[in-house]
Formats: sequence, structure tokens, C-alpha cells
Amino acid sequence: KPYVVGIDIGGTNTVFGIVDARGNVVASSSIKTGRHADIKDYVEELKTSLNNLLEANDATDKIAGIGVGAPNGNYFTGAIEMAPNLPWKGRIPLAELLKEAFGVPVALTNDANAAAIGEMTYGVARGMKDFIMITLGTGVGSGIVVNGQLVYGHDGFAGELGHVIVKPSNGRMCGCGRTGCLEAYCSATGVARTAREFLETRTDKSLLRNLPIEGITSKDVYDAAVQGDKLAKEIFEYTGKIMGEAFANFIAFSSPEAIILFGGLSRSGELLMKPIKEAMDRNTLNIYKGKTKLLLSELKESDAAVLGASALGWEAR
Ligand code: BGC
Ligand code: NA
Ligand code: ZN
Repeated sequence: KPYVVGIDIGGTNTVFGIVDARGNVVASSSIKTGRHADIKDYVEELKTSLNNLLEANDATDKIAGIGVGAPNGNYFTGAIEMAPNLPWKGRIPLAELLKEAFGVPVALTNDANAAAIGEMTYGVARGMKDFIMITLGTGVGSGIVVNGQLVYGHDGFAGELGHVIVKPSNGRMCGCGRTGCLEAYCSATGVARTAREFLETRTDKSLLRNLPIEGITSKDVYDAAVQGDKLAKEIFEYTGKIMGEAFANFIAFSSPEAIILFGGLSRSGELLMKPIKEAMDRNTLNIYKGKTKLLLSELKESDAAVLGASALGWEAR
């Protein structure tokens, strides 16, 4: 069978692609993740859309396996458990459900782990043995690679760096049920929250005040910052500082050659990179200083995770 399918489940979109043995995404498409509160309806919609894509590309019956990356996905069990940004609560045996739906082998892992595999196989982490992948989307995810291998931990859930506590007191509520997590500040939704907080507690003028406050997105903040809006730029500085401080801690944990950023927010350029670098440098322990690169994914939008997931599809059984 010449192809595998890679599926990247995000808090907002589910992107899936048909991938050949060389890592070319032959065709891809997406559906909205949050439309169905019932997992069965979601699997149905995914089945219809994926079957359409397979048919249109003459790839029906040419699929060796399916690889899936999902928030709170567990490689050992093939299940998603208690994901903060997904509509389905409890434990969802997704690999099993997809296997039933498609009749091919399915392997599942955490979405950020999948992005790390994609980056290691096809992207900027080729040849690297130690790096940390950070995905900045609706949530904040991570894939930790040590000595060429993803760290899974004793239970398959290792690498949830989006939920390290960055504000030990009076921190923001996080979707995981605790307070003060990195994700509550540095995800796309975290940036929007910062915007609302700044707008409500300050009086200085900003382009952002022209928008309905509840609907503000990280993209709005980016657009305003690019136009020179001071408050919007400060929001990126605030976000980058928290991220850089957290990264300095991650460096002490596994001494990575690089920290690699991926996801919509990572495309914010120097607005975000500069404050991250500054805070990271300032807070990194002397023995590591200047040794860890801060890189951006070189794979095109969403491909890292789709490709990484697809790589799992080859070994699925
Ligand atoms: C989840 C992670 C996931 C990340 C990005 C977090 O809220 O806990 O498992 O990798 O979001 O989707
Ligand atoms: Na992970
Ligand atoms: Zn959390």
C-alpha cells in the first residue's frame, strides 16, 4: 500500500492528509473539531470527509495505516483522556473507533509529539537528538525528544509542558482545571485573554478598543501590533517574557539543542521572538547559556503534525 493518512486533531480544526512514502502530502483537507459534542458524530463526519478525499485522489484501498496526533492523546493506549480543549469528556478510545470506521491499523499519540516526529523526520530537527517541540495553538503542547527518542514516561503522557505552572499565585484558570498554567497565558486563547485583561484594567488608547472586547483574537492583537499599536506590542512582550522564562526552565530539564516553535502564534515574527529570546537568555543557567537555539518549524502550516502523525501510520498495526 503506497500511502498513509496523517490526522492532526487541534482544538479548533482537524487537518488530515494523504501522505506518500517520501513524506509528500499528496492531498489534505480539514473539518471543525468542535462541531460535535458526541464523538460518534465526529468520527462519522471525519469518515465521510476522509473517504471523499481518498476517492478524489484515487487512494481508496491504498492506505497502509492511519496515524493520529491529538491533545491528551496517549501512545500506549490509543485513547484521548480529559483533553482541556476538546468537546469530548472522559476517556475516548479514538484509535479503536477509527480502526472500526476505516478497517486499517491506527496509531495515536499526543499532537505535539506528532509535530516533534514530523520535525525530526522531515523538518528543522533532522539530525537532532535532543530538542523540545512547543506547539502554540488553541492550547500549548510539547514533544520532548531525548537521545533521539520521544519521552513518553511510565504511562504514555509525558511532555505536557503547556501545563507547567508559570503563575504560582492568583494565576488564570486553565482548561485542565488548575490555575496558572503556561497555556492560560501563551496559547492563542491566552493572548486574547491578556488583551481583554489589559483593555479592562488600563486606560491608554489602542486600536483594539475599536473591536468588541469579547471577540478579540490573537490575530487581532497581531494585526494591531504590526500597525504599531503600543498596547498590542506590550501584549506580545508580556506573552514572550512568560514563554522565555518557562523555556529557561525546560532547558535545565533536558538540555536540548533547540526549542522549536510551531503553530499560528509562532508566525508572529520578532514581535514574539524578541521578548522570548530576551527572557530565555536572562533566565538560563550559566552552563547552558547561548547553547540552545530557538527555531521555528520549517514545515508549512500544519504539515509538521500531519506528517508526524502519518509517520506513525506506517508502523500502526
Ligand atoms: C493538551 C496537550 C496538547 C496541547 C496542544 C493541551 O491543552 O493538554 O495534550 O498537546 O493542548 O493541543
Ligand atoms: Na506531548
Ligand atoms: Zn493547565
